[in-house]
Amino acid sequence: MPRRYEKARFAWALTGSGHDLEECLEFLVELNDVDVFLSKAVEEVLVMYKYIDRLRNAQIRMFHDSTASAVPVGQFYEGNYHTLVIAPATSNTVAKCVAGISDTLVTNVFAQAGKCQIPIIVYACDTEPVVITPAPGKMVTVYPREIDLECARKIGEFENTTSTTDIKELQHAVLQRMECLSESCS
Ligand SMILES: Cc1cc2nc3c(=O)[nH]c(=O)nc-3n(C[C@H](O)[C@H](O)[C@H](O)COP(=O)(O)O)c2cc1C
Repeated sequence: MPRRYEKARFAWALTGSGHDLEECLEFLVELNDVDVFLSKAVEEVLVMYKYIDRLRNAQIRMFHDSTASAVPVGQFYEGNYHTLVIAPATSNTVAKCVAGISDTLVTNVFAQAGKCQIPIIVYACDTEPVVITPAPGKMVTVYPREIDLECARKIGEFENTTSTTDIKELQHAVLQRMECLSESCS
């Protein structure tokens, strides 16, 4: 029997990656029904890139990583979310998720969404051997390690998880999910 999601929303987790952070923000603030889960690192990174006001002005409900037991994850058990998006996902968060570690708010929402069989869309920022990315004030080139690339591949092998490799693919996956929800799929 398909699950009904009349009142459910997107849960969108932001982690401390500068790569496509602006693009992810711009996209998510246009979604109607979305709550944001912030890692401790992204709270700092949003300030460094001067994006914090964009998020605050959008008046989206935000959950901060301020408790040891990741209290906000309780909402996943209440049926409040139809989809979890983690974008952008740092190599740190992706590696922890792949190893089954849940010791931060974002790694906890990944684990709990998985355990509640809620579909997950991940945009890992380290999916290519060479990435040109903005640092605050300038562009830099970084060379993700084999371990980063391997974890980015492995996260897509989790149950109910779609892994996307660039911002366009991410947007497409989210829009496809919305279309699917409007047709009452699970
Ligand atoms: C300005 C800035 C930009 C960063 N960009 C990235 C990035 O693009 N990818 C990444 O994996 N880590 C990036 N980091 C490092 C992460 O923020 C750091 O690994 C942090 O511990 C990740 O924590 P989280 O996964 O809980 O958000 C950046 C750090 C800073 C200060």
